[in-house]
Amino acid sequence: MITNNHIFPSLISLVLLLNAIHAVNTGPNALVLNCGSSNSVKDADGRTWDPDAKYLSVGGNSTTAKAETQDPSLPSDVPYMSARIFLSETTYQFPLQNSTSRTLLRLHFYPSSYPNLNISNSYFSVVAGGVTLLNNFSASLAAEALSQAYFIKEYYMPPSEFTILNVTLKPSDKQPQSFAFLNGIEVISTPTLFDEDPILAGSAGNDFDTSVTIPIDTSSMETMFRLNVGGQYIAPVNDSGGLMRSWYDDSLYIYGAGQGVALQANTTINYKGLPSYMAPIDVYGSYRSMGAFVDVNRISNLTWIFQVDPNFMYLLRFHWCDSEMTKTNQRVFDVFINNKTAASEVDLFAWTQSTATPTKKDYVVQINNNKTNNNTEAQLWVALHPTDKTKAEFSDVLLNGLEIFKLSDKSKSNLAGPNPTISDMMKKYQEAQLAPKAFETNNPNKSNSSTSFSVIITGAAGGAAAIGVAAAIFLFTFTRQKRNPNGDAVSTWLPISWNSNSTTIKSSPSGRSQGGTTSISTDAACNCRYFNLSEIKNATKNFDESNVIGVGGFGKVYKGVIDGDTKVAIKRSNPSSEQGVNEFQTEIEMLSRLRHRHLVSLIGFCEDNGEMILVYDYMGQGTLREHLYKGNKITLSWKQRLEICIGAARGLHYLHTGAKYTIIHRDVKTTNILLDDKWVAKVSDFGLSKTGPNMNQGHVSTVVKGSFGYLDPEYFRRQQLTEKSDVYSFGVVLFEVLCARMTP
Ligand SMILES: *[C@@H]1O[C@H](CO)[C@@H](O)[C@H](O)[C@H]1NC(C)=O
Ligand SMILES: *[C@@H]1O[C@H](CO)[C@@H](O)[C@H](O)[C@H]1NC(C)=O
Ligand SMILES: *[C@@H]1O[C@H](CO)[C@@H](O)[C@H](O)[C@H]1NC(C)=O
Ligand SMILES: *[C@@H]1O[C@H](CO)[C@@H](O)[C@H](O)[C@H]1NC(C)=O
Ligand SMILES: *[C@@H]1O[C@H](CO)[C@@H](O)[C@H](O)[C@H]1NC(C)=O
Ligand SMILES: *[C@@H]1O[C@H](CO)[C@@H](O)[C@H](O)[C@H]1NC(C)=O
Ligand SMILES: *[C@@H]1O[C@H](CO)[C@@H](O)[C@H](O)[C@H]1NC(C)=O
Ligand SMILES: *[C@@H]1O[C@H](CO)[C@@H](O)[C@H](O)[C@H]1NC(C)=O
Ligand SMILES: *[C@@H]1O[C@H](CO)[C@@H](O)[C@H](O)[C@H]1NC(C)=O
Ligand SMILES: *[C@@H]1O[C@H](CO)[C@@H](O)[C@H](O)[C@H]1NC(C)=O
Ligand SMILES: *[C@@H]1O[C@H](CO)[C@@H](O)[C@H](O)[C@H]1NC(C)=O
Repeated sequence: MITNNHIFPSLISLVLLLNAIHAVNTGPNALVLNCGSSNSVKDADGRTWDPDAKYLSVGGNSTTAKAETQDPSLPSDVPYMSARIFLSETTYQFPLQNSTSRTLLRLHFYPSSYPNLNISNSYFSVVAGGVTLLNNFSASLAAEALSQAYFIKEYYMPPSEFTILNVTLKPSDKQPQSFAFLNGIEVISTPTLFDEDPILAGSAGNDFDTSVTIPIDTSSMETMFRLNVGGQYIAPVNDSGGLMRSWYDDSLYIYGAGQGVALQANTTINYKGLPSYMAPIDVYGSYRSMGAFVDVNRISNLTWIFQVDPNFMYLLRFHWCDSEMTKTNQRVFDVFINNKTAASEVDLFAWTQSTATPTKKDYVVQINNNKTNNNTEAQLWVALHPTDKTKAEFSDVLLNGLEIFKLSDKSKSNLAGPNPTISDMMKKYQEAQLAPKAFETNNPNKSNSSTSFSVIITGAAGGAAAIGVAAAIFLFTFTRQKRNPNGDAVSTWLPISWNSNSTTIKSSPSGRSQGGTTSISTDAACNCRYFNLSEIKNATKNFDESNVIGVGGFGKVYKGVIDGDTKVAIKRSNPSSEQGVNEFQTEIEMLSRLRHRHLVSLIGFCEDNGEMILVYDYMGQGTLREHLYKGNKITLSWKQRLEICIGAARGLHYLHTGAKYTIIHRDVKTTNILLDDKWVAKVSDFGLSKTGPNMNQGHVSTVVKGSFGYLDPEYFRRQQLTEKSDVYSFGVVLFEVLCARMTP
């Protein structure tokens, strides 16, 4: 399943922008169908979706329906707002344009409420060309597990001798009142994307002659992940070859603190020999490598982790383009998949015999169930490690793009896995939580080379001693007496993070405010200052890009000056996100009531003209993280470190016990501890409680947030949040403060 957790707000604005620019066509060999619609309609990208009725074979039993609510996260009402409902087994028959190549089949699902139907009862199977794609499938469970309102399933069907592709939907007969449904279908005839048999991971090292290859010509495939490594989201309209694929940012899948560095090639990249439909050129122009600290690289892996269904083979396609190395044996690395060597001594210059030449390589790996605990989900690890043996000039690794496909099982006729369960759901959340880094990596003012390098803290055993020290300091600074009168561990809370670019927040339709106007209570409004838009424009030189100090899914943060000389940070929310309205309101309501030396303070807000703007104290020294990891910043003394930790602990303690309600921060990490000019630590970016009348209960149960590495494992497993989760995360911060920074 392709996840698009983290891009909704920016996607919407980009889509709107693009709509204004040009209309897009997929090419002649494509059917793009809006199920249940009676005429051709355009989506927000300007793509035309045709009615599906003429492809239905006779004898089925289907009706059309309109969704009753439009979730704000939908990128476009086409194809999601209309659906075809299948009450009994029904077949679509699609003519195949070119049966000698693979056919890409994309299914769009929006499990919303449809008139006279209960979406929870919908269990069905989908069989295409004799291959079971989905079985006993519940789109609403899948959406819940992904925490998304809609999702897309994508398949590559093998070349077939038939000129018709039959796609059959069948409601489950085990479930009463069951039905099947579909919102959109794309059937695209692809060029030869899979031109080589993939190598079995573990079968050989760098010796391709003796390695085992697995023929995949007759296998069907499901796309699981498609990543523009080290780069940004690439929308379907910007894909190459008219294949309308989405390419996602890889940072959510990186394991551990060793994020490496995301870089852009400094030269223009051309496809050279590679067919352009393999991947958009932007995939080859951006990459992730380990960074400049050779001694650290030598003992580290750059690792990505993916959750997959067990008992299938997976095809991994690595996209590479080394734009820096000009000789052999400069950057040489090993590729491991699930701890098996897929390739050793990969030297891209040696492979391609030139600089900046895009290339791709396919590997397969079998992922089995862990027999001991019978997991329904398994992990797929991809790790890159600089080769020691060849004594290469630079100890570094490189990856530009990664695609992961599930291959149909041995009988070649099944691709379906089980419905996600609650424990799988928690893992999905974990994926979604792996440090949302848009704030740091998208910052245009920071140089790439040192932006997100961090020292890897992996070994649990080696770290144990340090954790002991951290815990000791922690107990010392954090007096755990509670001032909460009734002594409840968990009080009323609503975990909304206003800074979240994470769209793990799935808003329920009832929670949407109408028309984008906010209702700030008079109490809150009195506590902070109201700005009008012209004051804000003056302060930021009309939102001049040179004043941008941070960017995220929510919008941009500008540096500004008010009242002649007071420096402020101005956060301008993206007005297109409905969720933003709630968060804006919550933020003002809560922050206007919270005042503490160690919390970032809100100066005021502006809601003129549909804008949602918040004005904060300016934090002259930036984030704690920058001072721990960045080469170009002043190194903190041990005394300063201790003071910062004590300050942050006091801020958190106030959140937990000082206010009327227990407030659990839920995202304590070094990027959320800011430092002012005098190095006073201030906690920022709260998950806040809310007491207003329009509290949307829907959020409480679905939103789980935090950052990987900082997240309390108990919270994860039991989904019960207490302030102890913050204590755990703060322990990780202490650990970082103690040992992450290497003295220069
Ligand atoms: C279609 O299914 C519905 C519900 O099962 C049933 O009432 C109706 O008679 C069926 N129509 C046809 C043409 O089979
Ligand atoms: C839909 O079905 C589920 C279980 O099948 C049930 O719990 C729920 O109450 C139903 N919803 C409605 C609106 O009938
Ligand atoms: C597709 O389905 C039709 C009827 O449902 C059947 O006659 C035909 O043989 C099927 N074609 C293929 C290629 O399976
Ligand atoms: C069908 O696909 C094959 C392989 O991609 C290609 O060589 C051939 O030209 C295509 N034929 C047509 C009619 O598009
Ligand atoms: C497609 O790429 C162009 C040029 O890079 C960019 O301006 C546009 O926003 C992109 N479209 C989408 C929908 O991302
Ligand atoms: C590319 O790199 C070279 C040397 O590494 C440098 O001199 C040049 O300024 C860079 N060009 C750009 C556009 O960054
Ligand atoms: C790979 O090895 C690491 C450490 O030895 C282990 O924690 C991890 O579970 C292994 N991964 C798989 C998929 O076997
Ligand atoms: C890197 O990954 C490989 C394979 O999973 C493992 O054998 C090796 O120990 C790892 N190295 C480090 C430094 O973690
Ligand atoms: C399988 O699960 C058990 C229990 O969780 C664990 O101890 C074992 O290491 C796992 N084996 C593999 C190969 O991951
Ligand atoms: C493991 O899974 C199989 C098939 O899903 C099931 O029959 C069996 O009861 C499970 N065993 C345990 C110990 O959960
Ligand atoms: C279908 O999936 C649901 C939810 O995962 C599960 O509870 C049920 O047992 C499954 N039914 C069959 C027949 O496999």
